[in-house]
Amino acid sequence: MMNAHSVSFATLALLCSTSVLAQTAPSPEARAAATAASMTEDERVILTNGILAIPLIPGMKMPEDAVVGSGYVPGVPRLGVPSLKETDATLGVAWEFGLRKNDDGATALPAGPAIGSTWNPALARKGGEVIGAEARAKGFNVMLAGGVNIIRDPRNGRSFEYISEDPLLSGLIAGEAVAGVQSNHIISTVKHFAFNGQETQRSFVNSLISEKNGRESDLLAFEIAIERGNPGAVMCAYNRVNGPYACDSDWLLNKVLKRDWRYKGFVMSDWGAVPGLHAASNGLDQQSAAMLDKANFFGKPLKDAAAKDPAMAARLKDMNQRILYAIYANGLDTNPSVKGPRNKAAGLATAEAIAKEGIVLLRNEHDVLPLTANARSIVVIGGYADTGVLSGGGSSQVQGEGGPVAAIPVGGDGPMAFLAQEQYHRSNPLRAITTQARGAKVSFQRGNNVGEAADAARKADVAIVFATEWRTEGTDSFDLALPNGQDQLIAAVAEANPNTIVVLETGGPVLMPWLNKTAAVLEAWYPGARGGEAIASILFGQTNPSGHLPLTFPASLDDLPRRTIEGERTNTLAPGGDKPNVEVNADYNIDGSDVGYRWNARKGKTALFPFGHGLTYTSFAYDDLRITGGKRVTATFTVRNTGAREGADVPQLYLVSAVGRKLQKLAGFDKVSLKPGEARKVTITVDPRIIAEWDTDANGWRIGAGSYEFALGASASTLKQAARVRLSAQRLKP
Ligand code: BGC
Repeated sequence: MMNAHSVSFATLALLCSTSVLAQTAPSPEARAAATAASMTEDERVILTNGILAIPLIPGMKMPEDAVVGSGYVPGVPRLGVPSLKETDATLGVAWEFGLRKNDDGATALPAGPAIGSTWNPALARKGGEVIGAEARAKGFNVMLAGGVNIIRDPRNGRSFEYISEDPLLSGLIAGEAVAGVQSNHIISTVKHFAFNGQETQRSFVNSLISEKNGRESDLLAFEIAIERGNPGAVMCAYNRVNGPYACDSDWLLNKVLKRDWRYKGFVMSDWGAVPGLHAASNGLDQQSAAMLDKANFFGKPLKDAAAKDPAMAARLKDMNQRILYAIYANGLDTNPSVKGPRNKAAGLATAEAIAKEGIVLLRNEHDVLPLTANARSIVVIGGYADTGVLSGGGSSQVQGEGGPVAAIPVGGDGPMAFLAQEQYHRSNPLRAITTQARGAKVSFQRGNNVGEAADAARKADVAIVFATEWRTEGTDSFDLALPNGQDQLIAAVAEANPNTIVVLETGGPVLMPWLNKTAAVLEAWYPGARGGEAIASILFGQTNPSGHLPLTFPASLDDLPRRTIEGERTNTLAPGGDKPNVEVNADYNIDGSDVGYRWNARKGKTALFPFGHGLTYTSFAYDDLRITGGKRVTATFTVRNTGAREGADVPQLYLVSAVGRKLQKLAGFDKVSLKPGEARKVTITVDPRIIAEWDTDANGWRIGAGSYEFALGASASTLKQAARVRLSAQRLKP
């Protein structure tokens, strides 16, 4: 047994050893400063610019140690600085058109809104761990992950790469995913900073947003993600913000990110997003894939400018220090990525777990789901359900081993249009349904002949229609309608069979003119590498659905703050398809920070399906909501499983009025797994920035003194219990 003396001795020994460690291991900041100081003038412009690492350009020679991926930045071997080998993206290691030789693909995680629908940051972290480990096994050390732009417009073509319309949910989920990626000694980005709210004319569109509106919405999502995930890099966006380009925005990069948030990492540009050398003075640290811009501004021009101008020389030193800090803080030099096998089974298990928690049961009339043994004949219709599950397109496209099981060209007229294909993953819903159906007769109809599909549905006990909506980077989904006559198909099948279940594979919300005729609707998003299995597991009740919408499904386009997407008429498939010099302003001050459900609350609009909505095969009740004030507002309440099955619930706490002003803001949430009859006390501590308002004059957050009301909801429009608390005035630094 230890006595007091031996304890203090042990403590002393520990203190000595940590102080020895502290002496021998300088901080990443100190190392970065030392390395930057010992660089020659030529070396100072090595880390500041990179190349595209996709051998698509004829005659292009790849550096010897480059891996086919999105980008490459040479290292400085004399100083032991590794090269940066960059790959996309948020949902897995990108496929790069299958150009990597002898490559076995990567785990395709479900789409961002599926991860958002889990409301489970710990699971998002696991997803990040998987994609970081796979990036490492392929020899990459930078992942262009962390898509965290709030989905301000449900038509956004990249909504499938983002998480949600809410800053808190987006920030928490993306932050944990980034932390998971970086746990592999890989730098992760968060992107696209900021207000990259639409793909239409993305290289020209000017996002208009006031400081207050911005700080309380998109910027808050980034701020939370950066705090949680500590990403080594931030990728700035293609669009302009209140005039200047995002990658050239003194406000965004110097003032918000580096001054107010005290961000220590570096800002890398998006690919082909650098307007000129002046971007360096405005806070950009690295020009990515420089051949996509008008010039390699951050190479010789930067060196020459630094030789003449002491301010630019100081800036250049800072640029290097920031990049080096991210390298050292993540151990890219001490734990270099080594090519090796990836753990496919672990990847698939995580992808399946996310899909099972991320699929949302939107509608379930008369408990038609889960399917029981009474369903003796099932017809599966459409959506290539006999082949695979849909994935999203663009730079984030992931594929598993063997590449896509089907790839359907979608055309378009931009220079990159030949790359536009609807790609399907090798996870077969029909096969998974047949396996689960045990004995029932399962047949398939492609769905291209509406009459035949309806006939087959009439003869079956149950009809399951798969409907797909492909989204991609570079273009938006202008009308939110299911394409290719699928609305007519669903309507005809539902007319023929009252037990019609619709499974949606979409990158975001769609309109559902047929909704009232159907028995059930499942939003499976792009469900990833094990999507078919996860869908079948929910249909047959092996998994009790627990997904909740991370964004509003609007009832009509008329309900959106902007009826049309700015520049809609001029857009072609991008990247490269944008038409230059088209003046397009996206006015985000219309909704301001009241995005999605908050817009509906402000305008009294009813959603088709509200934010936070998600059904389950059991039921839950809430009790005893109590709110206490003080420095941190805390809510406690009890959740009880009142049904007959084990399941998980997502109780959501909303701020609904602040000092007499009615509003709605998600203030916190939890994910609680409960056995039938089981109850649990839940405690939620509220981030004060949710309660506060941004005060532009004071450059900080301000909580006004007075009464605040919170409500507990099963969705943004199903508020159950409410409680008030009085708060005193408070000011918070940014
Ligand atoms: C996308 C980025 C991506 C980059 C590299 C750009 O087109 O906007 O998200 O990381 O390409 O592939």
